Amino acid sequence: MESALDFHTAKALLEWQIELGADEALCEAPVDRYALEAEKPKAKPKAQAPHPAAVKQAEVDPVSEARAAARSVQDLKALRAAMEAFDHCELKRGARQLVFSDGNPAARVMIIGEAPGRDEDREGRPFVGRAGQLLDRMLAAIGLDRKSDQAESAVYITNVLPWRPPQNRDPKPDEIAMLLPFLERHVALANPDFLILMGNISCQAALGKRGITRLRGQWTEAFGKPAIPMFHPAYLLRTPQAKREAWADLLEIKARLEQPS
Ligand code: URA
Repeated sequence: MESALDFHTAKALLEWQIELGADEALCEAPVDRYALEAEKPKAKPKAQAPHPAAVKQAEVDPVSEARAAARSVQDLKALRAAMEAFDHCELKRGARQLVFSDGNPAARVMIIGEAPGRDEDREGRPFVGRAGQLLDRMLAAIGLDRKSDQAESAVYITNVLPWRPPQNRDPKPDEIAMLLPFLERHVALANPDFLILMGNISCQAALGKRGITRLRGQWTEAFGKPAIPMFHPAYLLRTPQAKREAWADLLEIKARLEQPS
């Protein structure tokens, strides 16, 4: 009886397996696939490739990048485009736009200010706020005008930094160093007769030193050009008594312009 039951049970099992698709006997003994899996040599975990952004971060030296970009351009339009494309300065992310320059690039005088403020950031031109309006009046007093199309009476204006620092804070030394190759190229391409360095940040960038009270009014050399440091117009707004020295410096500039270029 028992063997008949076994027979029926075994037959039912076989039929069930055939229904499931197991219609062919491959080997005599059953194979424990779980045991086989455990014996398999483990594949070596793949070495984790560093994230591309991390590689970029580690390899890029922003100053060398700025130098290469500045060296590669041959005119002011291309310089502006190279600066627009420069992505290594954090200030760019907080600013509305690049503030490149204003005035006449053919001018004999090039002014280097500090950095855009709120008004400049909004308008995209340097020195358009209160300090800029004072600067325009100072220039007018010696016959200069940023709108002039005559090289003799025109001025060309830029800043050490082309992007507004947050809350108008002072530019940091690494920001100045990073953007210096562009400023240097800017001066070379505009090729003015001389430079006016407005305030300490401008002196820091162009001369590598500060101390505007001592430096102002003394001719020196920056980027291969004669240069005269002056009090920044924003300082003159806060310290009207310093306008006397500013006036003396303006007369010095006027006298220089009266010399043939
Ligand atoms: N101060 C600067 O030095 N530059 C500007 O463009 C505006 C204010």
